[in-house]
Amino acid sequence: MCGIIGYAGSGNAGEIIYDGLLRLEYRGYDSAGIAVLSNGKTEIVKSAGRVEKLNTSAQLLGGNVGIGHTRWATHGKPDDKNAHPHRSGRITVVHNGEIENYAELKKQLAASGERFLSETDSEVIPCLINRFYGGNLLEAAIKCAKMLNGSYAFLAMCDGCEEIVAAKFRSPVIVGQGENCAYCSSDEPALAGKCPTLYILEDGDFAVITKSSVKIFDENMRPVNRAPVINSAGEQSLALCGYPHYMIKELWEAPAAVKNTLSAFAGVEAEARAAFAGADRVIFTGCGTAYHAALLGKRYFCELAGIPAEAEYAGELRYNGIQGGKKTVLVAVTQSGETADTVEAARLYKNSGAAVLAVTNCPHSAIARIATLTVPVCAGPEICVAATKSYSAQIAALAAMALSVSGGKRQIDTDCAPALISQTLQDIDIYALAEMCARARGVYFMGRGIDYAVALEGSLKLKEVSYIAGGGYPSGELKHGTLALIDGTTLSVFIICDGELAAKSMDAVEQTLSRGGMAAVLTTLPEVQRQFARRAEVISLPECNKYLSPLVSAAALQLLAYRVAVVLGRDPDKPRNLAKSVTVE
Ligand code: AGP
Repeated sequence: MCGIIGYAGSGNAGEIIYDGLLRLEYRGYDSAGIAVLSNGKTEIVKSAGRVEKLNTSAQLLGGNVGIGHTRWATHGKPDDKNAHPHRSGRITVVHNGEIENYAELKKQLAASGERFLSETDSEVIPCLINRFYGGNLLEAAIKCAKMLNGSYAFLAMCDGCEEIVAAKFRSPVIVGQGENCAYCSSDEPALAGKCPTLYILEDGDFAVITKSSVKIFDENMRPVNRAPVINSAGEQSLALCGYPHYMIKELWEAPAAVKNTLSAFAGVEAEARAAFAGADRVIFTGCGTAYHAALLGKRYFCELAGIPAEAEYAGELRYNGIQGGKKTVLVAVTQSGETADTVEAARLYKNSGAAVLAVTNCPHSAIARIATLTVPVCAGPEICVAATKSYSAQIAALAAMALSVSGGKRQIDTDCAPALISQTLQDIDIYALAEMCARARGVYFMGRGIDYAVALEGSLKLKEVSYIAGGGYPSGELKHGTLALIDGTTLSVFIICDGELAAKSMDAVEQTLSRGGMAAVLTTLPEVQRQFARRAEVISLPECNKYLSPLVSAAALQLLAYRVAVVLGRDPDKPRNLAKSVTVE
């Protein structure tokens, strides 16, 4: 959700920031811009569209200090004028977040003569800093920040001054020192190979970076110490390594992600179990794909651990009138650990006295700092906007936790899970089904029990990378309304891996076929394969324990979505209108 990066050093700032923006592009790709201090004056290049549009112009910027931005538009169209950086007087700013009181501030500033050039909320920031500036950029940035409501991670530069000031509130900023240089950025991968040690700013922190120093301050300009953390992102994990897209590369990384996550769970197992002792309410939450993993978490806790559990979207949970309490455990699932709704739900529950377990791929993220306990997801950096390996690893972490909390009452050999995913990716032939999806007017995914949770994810994955309309439903609900959509132009994809509920889902396939609808069946069950062999497109998945089947069926559905995107010529890594990390509410 917008990426920001700053550099102060002796290298070519334009080139370095351009490279950093390419790494941050998964956070938003509506427009991009770079500002560099050149002989005391600020030069800006910016453009609507992808970062690579700045390739040539970035090289021509001469200077050693600069800031850059890659945008996911919130306020104002994704055009040139709304692209960051924004400027007022001597001040230039890039911003990630949402300024909720921007309209009021703009009105006040306009009344006193300010002219705005963009439709963005962000433009009030350079205006305010410019007004407050009296020779000290940090002081002016702090005064500006005090006027802002909402969320911000902003970087500010001033003509004639070789420093960058960073400010953070509810949007991430990390800072670090390299060799003869210093950086600030939205996340760790952008600084892989550049800064071995990083400092994660907390809400209300400000940082001043120059070629030779990184200093952190509070809002009273008092120095603040933040513990250094090791930058875990390796440059190799950011390379395509011969794959045409990150989506397919990351799909193939799922087996390792699951294996590493299962091993890492051992390190937190005792604490995780203790967190559930005495709990009278267990809630799973998340957004998008992470919510679909949360739904599986709920089922695992109910069915494997025998603990009644609920699942709710994080954006809804916050407003349902109930806020946890000491006997509540909130399990917040999030790849990035920065999703605003999930982070705020976690904060709300933590403040109510609940235990908060963060199931996250990013151990230094906002949610990890709020949580009582971080349950590690070890998927490594996920660049493709569509989540794949992180979802698989989240499922593995949640299954391991439910099995552990069951106290040995339920035992499943999870060691075979990585091999099951590899076997699925290697063996299934999904091309014909991908062609059917690409031709269909709508694609509906259905299942029951754990298969329903996976159906929702299959539908989301296809929608986000192919733009084909559709939805995910419990297959029992088909006859209660969705059946009206079924005709020869629609495709219904049934996930049938739960043997106990298979007969019921098979009825739904029959109801679809008898009304002339196209049907596909993804199943681990030989009897289901036989039943529909010649009447539907059947994708045979490796036989496995029902509770491991989501790893298998999800891998098949992720591969399906990828193939459809390729057939339709979409960019699966950067779907239109989306961004990887949604740090606004
Ligand atoms: C997944 O394919 C989506 N891009 C999206 O739904 C994502 O899972 C959601 O925004 C939550 O992100 P998080 O896991 O980083 O919290």
